[in-house]
Amino acid sequence: MRKRILTGITTTGTPHIGNYLGAIKPALGLVAPDNDSYFFLADYHALIKQTDPNQIEISVKNVALAWLASGLDPEKSHFYRQSDIPEVHELTWILNCSAAKGLLNRAHAYKAIVAENTQSSSDEDKAINMGLFSYPVLMAADILIFNATHVPVGPDQAQHIEMARDIAGKFNHTYSNILTLPEALIQNEISVPGNDGRKMSKSYNNIIPFLSTEKALQKSIAKIITNSLEPGEPKDHKTCTLFQLYSFFATDNDIDAMKQSYLDGIAWGDVKKCLFTAINNEILPIREKYTDLKGQPDLLNDLFSEGARKIRPQAQELVGKLREALGISKIA
Ligand code: TRP
Repeated sequence: MRKRILTGITTTGTPHIGNYLGAIKPALGLVAPDNDSYFFLADYHALIKQTDPNQIEISVKNVALAWLASGLDPEKSHFYRQSDIPEVHELTWILNCSAAKGLLNRAHAYKAIVAENTQSSSDEDKAINMGLFSYPVLMAADILIFNATHVPVGPDQAQHIEMARDIAGKFNHTYSNILTLPEALIQNEISVPGNDGRKMSKSYNNIIPFLSTEKALQKSIAKIITNSLEPGEPKDHKTCTLFQLYSFFATDNDIDAMKQSYLDGIAWGDVKKCLFTAINNEILPIREKYTDLKGQPDLLNDLFSEGARKIRPQAQELVGKLREALGISKIA
């Protein structure tokens, strides 16, 4: 059977170098002529965290352009917005009726917030809306609506795929064998450090920008914290943020040469120059494409409507089958 790869992209914030290395690049690496690929913007999921409509719109735009600039080809992969496929929500309700509340009680993200509330002696439901609680059901619908067989995700999402299988299995058992049980393709978590050495994250304010100007990239690299070893003094590459970042972008030969330079006492300023060149060489074409795409006013609207037009019939067909199985169709 042909593999059908599907993954959702959360539309919060603007992608940084860590997102590019950890999610965009590996996902696009799975696109091949012998499989089908579905990439969508999970904009209804974003409502759980973001209530500012402007931020929602900006993020969808930036995330979509980042993926397109990085090589997502809408001729080769299906590319669409979750919100343009309303059948996802019809399926969500159907799945809600097969999803055990006890299953959702065990979701890591939900449990973590309950634990925080308990710890701070607050009401255990504080700041928890039903969107957060039933997040895994919407995610299951995203996957099941297109009969996905393989879902590339980070390790933090593995539990959600298990839940999708569980809920689909329950439906199939209760009614008939209609839903395809997806398999998770767990992508290795690569730990990309930010410019303070901690994991790169917007919430730590330590990101290295991805689609900004060369100047901004240079400035951000200049800020990376090093120790006070002088030029000429040997340095340890193993514990060095600059080296770790460098190794994501350089060739194996260049990485080996850099290790030697550390032993030989390369100056921090020179490592930073090499790091800038390595990152910039890779993202220069992406940045140029991003700027070009950004200047085309109707590009995203056209792509989104075309993306949905091509695949919505598949979603409609599946929902038709499900309704028949449920007894919610034409009265005999
Ligand atoms: N929850 C995923 C994340 O935070 C995003 C997502 C939404 C998704 N729907 C999906 C991923 C369906 C895979 C399949 O990364």
